[in-house]
Amino acid sequence: MDTKKQYQIAVIPGDGTGPEVVAEGIKVLQQAAKQCGFALSLTEYPFGGAHYRETGETLPEDALASLAAADAIYLGAIGHPEVKPGILEKGILLALRFHLDLYVNLRPVKLYEGVETPLKGKTPKDIDFVVVRENTEGLYAGAGGWLKRGTADEVAVQESINTRKGVERCIRFAFEYCRKRNQKKKLTLCGKTNVLTYAFDLWERTFAEVAAEYPDIETDYAHVDAICMWMVKNPEWFDVIVTDNMFGDIITDLAAMIQGGMGVAAGGNINPAGVSMFEPIGGSAPKYTGKGVINPIAAISAAQLLLETLGEDRAAAMIEAGVIKVLKHDLKSLSAGRMGYSTSEVGDLVVQHIETIESADTAEKIRSR
Ligand code: IPM
Ligand code: MN
Repeated sequence: MDTKKQYQIAVIPGDGTGPEVVAEGIKVLQQAAKQCGFALSLTEYPFGGAHYRETGETLPEDALASLAAADAIYLGAIGHPEVKPGILEKGILLALRFHLDLYVNLRPVKLYEGVETPLKGKTPKDIDFVVVRENTEGLYAGAGGWLKRGTADEVAVQESINTRKGVERCIRFAFEYCRKRNQKKKLTLCGKTNVLTYAFDLWERTFAEVAAEYPDIETDYAHVDAICMWMVKNPEWFDVIVTDNMFGDIITDLAAMIQGGMGVAAGGNINPAGVSMFEPIGGSAPKYTGKGVINPIAAISAAQLLLETLGEDRAAAMIEAGVIKVLKHDLKSLSAGRMGYSTSEVGDLVVQHIETIESADTAEKIRSR
């Protein structure tokens, strides 16, 4: 009898280059699973711009139910040049976040050796932090409306919704994550308490209350504008940053650039009590579709995050070790068409590096190779 542990993974390859990078992520996932003694059962879903144009459907109810029953969701990219902005974002990506209550957006920001950062004089030891972004509230909640739309007296209101429960669970996640990460053990709250005196008063009070339960974690606060400044000037100050949805959206794009760009930036949309979804954050890059030139490393790192969240730390460490080797020794550049390899060759290289890892190695040993 096969007693191997099996995970149900829902795969949404999506649009543009999404399917190409997801294929490489799956290749790497399967290799790590094989070497670590568990199995993956993959179910593919067609959602994205092309499917919407064919069927008028974004994310049907029954699909949501079956996605909710998976152990994890692996997403390529959503976005189509022929679909009006907002439809797919709201109809698929945000819908998944809201319906599956993926209340944390987790964005590791790590500069690997061999990757160029635009920050002069900064090295991998300076850029290694994680952003915990609230992912279901704030300005993204969709509260607001128009008055007298299209007239000279038009009024548009977009409100930021911050609930005590929503803020607290995100902050708690950040403290727990910071403790588990066990690096500088420093958690920075990113807000705007000097102007957004209602919302960030709630964040600040909640942060202080929860902090009392984590005496081992050093806490800090910075306004969002200052965070942008420090992230460029002194990224080494950060360990874990926690912030609201909108600020998190903005600072994680800045953070992605200092770690080497969209070719390496991965993220997780996490529900710690349910299913979570993992994605490369670079988008669908339609002009490169089908050319086999796009960098799959971000998608492969998203697969690593997926395994970490499932608790498969050894397998995740193997993937990271493979990525580290490829970035350090193999790729000429991270840019599409300039890697020196095709998309699938990069996936193959990561797999080859993983194959060299002894099955007896522990996650710690693998990481420090
Ligand atoms: C992200 C993206 C999304 C966001 C868009 C595509 C709706 O930019 O995941 O950061 O704004 O959250
Ligand atoms: Mn964004």
